[in-house]
Amino acid sequence: MSEERFLVTGALGCLGAWVVRNLIREGVPVSIFDLGGSNHRLRLVMTDDEVAKINVINGDVTNKDVVEKAFRDSAATHIIHLAALQVPFCRANPSLGASVNVTGTVNIFEAAKAVGLKKVVYASSMAVYGAPSEYPPGLLQHDARPNPLNHYGVYKLANEGTARIYWQDDKISSIGLRPYTIYGPARDQGMTSTPTKAMLAAAAEIPYRMTYGGYNGWQYTDDVAKIFIQAARASFEGASVFNLKGVVAHVQEVLDAILAVEPSAQVTFEPKPLALPDGCDDSALVAAIGAVPETPLREGVAQTIAHFKQALAEGKITAESN
Ligand SMILES: NC(=O)c1ccc[n+]([C@@H]2O[C@H](COP(=O)([O-])OP(=O)(O)OC[C@H]3O[C@@H](n4cnc5c(N)ncnc54)[C@H](O)[C@@H]3O)[C@@H](O)[C@H]2O)c1
Repeated sequence: MSEERFLVTGALGCLGAWVVRNLIREGVPVSIFDLGGSNHRLRLVMTDDEVAKINVINGDVTNKDVVEKAFRDSAATHIIHLAALQVPFCRANPSLGASVNVTGTVNIFEAAKAVGLKKVVYASSMAVYGAPSEYPPGLLQHDARPNPLNHYGVYKLANEGTARIYWQDDKISSIGLRPYTIYGPARDQGMTSTPTKAMLAAAAEIPYRMTYGGYNGWQYTDDVAKIFIQAARASFEGASVFNLKGVVAHVQEVLDAILAVEPSAQVTFEPKPLALPDGCDDSALVAAIGAVPETPLREGVAQTIAHFKQALAEGKITAESN
């Protein structure tokens, strides 16, 4: 363990902040690579002393030379690649979305090749799948056929193809992980961020309406971060992609979990479900990297609201931050 040095891209984002928090709390050296914007998500989930331990590298993942330099400067032994533009940003600017999400991921593999790193762990997404009607009822199986419905999903599917070719041609192994709905402190942007925004609204005692209903796989930020780290440490050869399961539940159950903590919360949801299957089977992931953490929904929601309440009291966020 003591020889480990992690490089985490997109670490000013929600998931990255939680990955870094876990590694810093283990005492592992961490470098982060991001555009150099606000570090408010890191400060939301870590103490100032912990944030100060991070080696910060500002750079754009679309710039191949800068990415390779970051790999060299950090002397990374483990790569977790999270930098990406989410669904609404890819929809608003597909060309930029392709540069960041597709070219950016190619640049990560090119840098790994240049410095001789033999493994990359990266974020794909549930968005590689098609409409629920395309699949049999029940949990989506590991080998279900992708058929993305938006640019973002197409770009993530391209990442999976890129990873496969780097294994085929260069023997760089990879694990791609497909989260569904990540929720928890710092989840403040993206298509499925409104349930977390509802938790902040409940903590701040203001009304909020979540933008969708139906069933989702609910994945607590800290669990997902731990799974990415676990995947990075797993001894694994090949290029595989795995779905994350989390807790499969209806948005109504998220609302109930909020009301269990804040009975007077004025939170509601649009009943229309997302155009995605209800949830995923993750047995292939568990077979590859071992058992994965799964915080019960009520516990994750309660922890999130408690975290927000404290952050509001400390002035780290405002009711509108999310
Ligand atoms: N949040 C979810 O529910 C979810 C679901 C499925 C997949 N994912 C994937 O997981 C990863 C992390 O998600 P998140 O919720 O933390 O996203 P986020 O939007 O909070 O963070 C993404 C980070 O990438 C950085 N970034 C964007 N463009 C960049 C560039 N050109 N160069 C360097 N950095 C750049 C941003 O500054 C940001 O800090 C992403 O790849 C995302 O697509 C997330």
